[in-house]
Amino acid sequence: MKEFLDIALEAGAKAGEIIRENFHKKKLIDYKGRINLVTNVDIEAEKVVIEIIRNYYPKHNILTEETEHKQNPDQEYCWVIDPLDGTTNYVHGFPFVCVSIALQKNGESVVGVVYNPIMNELFFAEKGKRCVRNDEEIHVSDNPDFSKSLLATGFPYDMLNDARNNIQYFSKLIKQCRGIRRPGAAALDICYVACGIFDGYWELELYPWDTAAGIVILEEAGGQVSKFDGSEFSIFDKEIVATNGKIHGEMLEILGSSIS
Ligand code: IPD
Ligand code: CA
Ligand code: CA
Repeated sequence: MKEFLDIALEAGAKAGEIIRENFHKKKLIDYKGRINLVTNVDIEAEKVVIEIIRNYYPKHNILTEETEHKQNPDQEYCWVIDPLDGTTNYVHGFPFVCVSIALQKNGESVVGVVYNPIMNELFFAEKGKRCVRNDEEIHVSDNPDFSKSLLATGFPYDMLNDARNNIQYFSKLIKQCRGIRRPGAAALDICYVACGIFDGYWELELYPWDTAAGIVILEEAGGQVSKFDGSEFSIFDKEIVATNGKIHGEMLEILGSSIS
């Protein structure tokens, strides 16, 4: 039987192929909300990932963005999949997109694969083992100075109705760091903290498939992840802070003081 990581890599490569082949083609677009898009490519990529996983482990649980699967509470393994993270980018031809695949064992991410087939960047990690980007070991930045930090974030799709729409956090943090980017694919944002491009990242209203793979990659790269109050993050939580560890405290302080 193939190793779990190899299965995730195989599924990521196949989904990546579909994402790459269709990047310049016309997509069929559906709306899950005012600005929340889904395309035929999200659906096709998801189908292929599930097929590959089911082929090896038909009984494992599957939690994925575009289709609902019955969860067996007695099953210790669960694959958490975002077949195309960054769908808005994809529709507009902005190449910051990826497929994100994680395996959780008893609720803990043990394998993470995040693959951007357009920019040819493959991140993967296994809990307690190596963590790489395109075969080179990665590590978070060693910058302890918040005023010299480059951060990333995103904004919830439902920002018109949701008072906690991140604008208040953004306006506070932007005045104290070097800059903030909004790249548009949460899984890759977290990987960019893992490899030291960003020093920190925060976001609200994400789903398990946005963060499950990224956090194992980040933690193996020496990073830190938590909720805004510093408590332990679970992929079902609705707020995440992920940093190089050195600016974590300062970020939490600012996020905590910007709620009012
Ligand atoms: C979205 C992206 C985006 C984040 C959104 C996510 P999707 O995922 O990760 O960066 O800000 O909240 O939902 O819809 O492109 O898979
Ligand atoms: Ca996503
Ligand atoms: Ca998605």
